[in-house]
Amino acid sequence: MKFQTQRPASWQACIACGNEVVETDARPRCGTCGGLLEVHHRPPEMTAAELIQRFTERRGQPGATASGVWRFREIVLPSADSVVSHPEGNTPLLHRVELDRWAGVDHLLLKHEGHNPTGSFKDRGMTVGVTQARRIGASAVACASTGNTSASLAAYAAQAGLPALVLVPLDGVATGKLAQSLAYGARTLLVRGDFDDCLRLVEQASDQLGVYLLNSINPFRVEGQKTIVLELLQQLSWSPPDWIVLPAGNLGNTAAFGKALREAREWGLISRLPRLAAVQAAGAAPFARSFADNFAQRHRVKADTVASAIRIGDPASYDRAVRAIRETDGLVLSSSDEELLEAKAAIDASGVGCEPASAVTLAGIRRLVQEGKIRSSDQVVAILTGHILKDPGLLLRYHQEIDPPPPGANRPIEIDADLRQVERVLKATA
Ligand code: F0G
Repeated sequence: MKFQTQRPASWQACIACGNEVVETDARPRCGTCGGLLEVHHRPPEMTAAELIQRFTERRGQPGATASGVWRFREIVLPSADSVVSHPEGNTPLLHRVELDRWAGVDHLLLKHEGHNPTGSFKDRGMTVGVTQARRIGASAVACASTGNTSASLAAYAAQAGLPALVLVPLDGVATGKLAQSLAYGARTLLVRGDFDDCLRLVEQASDQLGVYLLNSINPFRVEGQKTIVLELLQQLSWSPPDWIVLPAGNLGNTAAFGKALREAREWGLISRLPRLAAVQAAGAAPFARSFADNFAQRHRVKADTVASAIRIGDPASYDRAVRAIRETDGLVLSSSDEELLEAKAAIDASGVGCEPASAVTLAGIRRLVQEGKIRSSDQVVAILTGHILKDPGLLLRYHQEIDPPPPGANRPIEIDADLRQVERVLKATA
């Protein structure tokens, strides 16, 4: 179907066959061909200057408009009425000279999404996804996850008073994330399998058992995640950087970034596009392999990396992400576990801190600088997607247990309750 006459404020369309459905259709995929859906909005009835002024006025206001997601509601979900908001977003743009030096760029900015309420960027998509779940009268919500989506879904479902079901790989979820999902009260299934098995299973559950699917194939999640880019552009006074570098797993975020940039240019908020660089972990890099083939083929792999958040072998948002990379003249690359751990140690030691998956960005930037693809004078923004405390298990192994200690290891020192022993350590440290 196509909307022939006056279009509604927003609607959904299949990116494969173009079939259109109303905004409140709850099916996670196109009913005709099974393709991924995308939310479309009628162009805002305001000039770009008026929109920008409105976004500026809302910054720092009380209530839901203080949210770094709902501040942009005209281009996120204009017809939403009662939103489920923590609030979220309003994450900082950080700069650390030692990380400039480490990566080889003059002025690297870090947009730290770990400052969201549950400690990852997922809250931006989830506030919109759970708001939509309530709008359509969902009786329960569900997702498959490597841990952050489930933590976020659990928190927002609790706020909305909706039962939540989360499916995570047994042995595949960092401690902090599993603890959050349990504490926020989600019914948590530890699946004997990997993330890709969990995703298949939850799609079947949404098809056959009627729970509302809140993985990032849900196009409303993508609308919320667009606001990472919108807020970043606002922080840069709508002057786009040369590069935005982000970690890539299931590819929801890569898709969201591409859509945000496309729309921002269409609606006159920016006049040129930054280039996207999506970085995967080398042991879970099917998208980087497809990029190397010029996207001639979609690859699937058995994923294996220390960065459990992006341990994904068959990314669901592949088609939407290919478009994002093509439209932004982007790049896809991968970092080995050794490289990403070294980058993480540098981010942590600068006092910023992030979870392992986030650190592929810094490792990727250093490589692109070495290869001459990023110039040191380019304006580069790295997206740090999750908080340092998400994965304490990996941190303690890195600093306390690995033998011989890796270069950045900071071994704790056991002492007796004796001032002289404290003094000895102080002298050796100073
Ligand atoms: N960084 C972190 C910290 C993540 O948790 C994820 C994905 C990504 C990057 C990759 O983003 O999937 O949009 O390409 N985590 C999902 C989850 C899969 O279940 O929490 P993506």
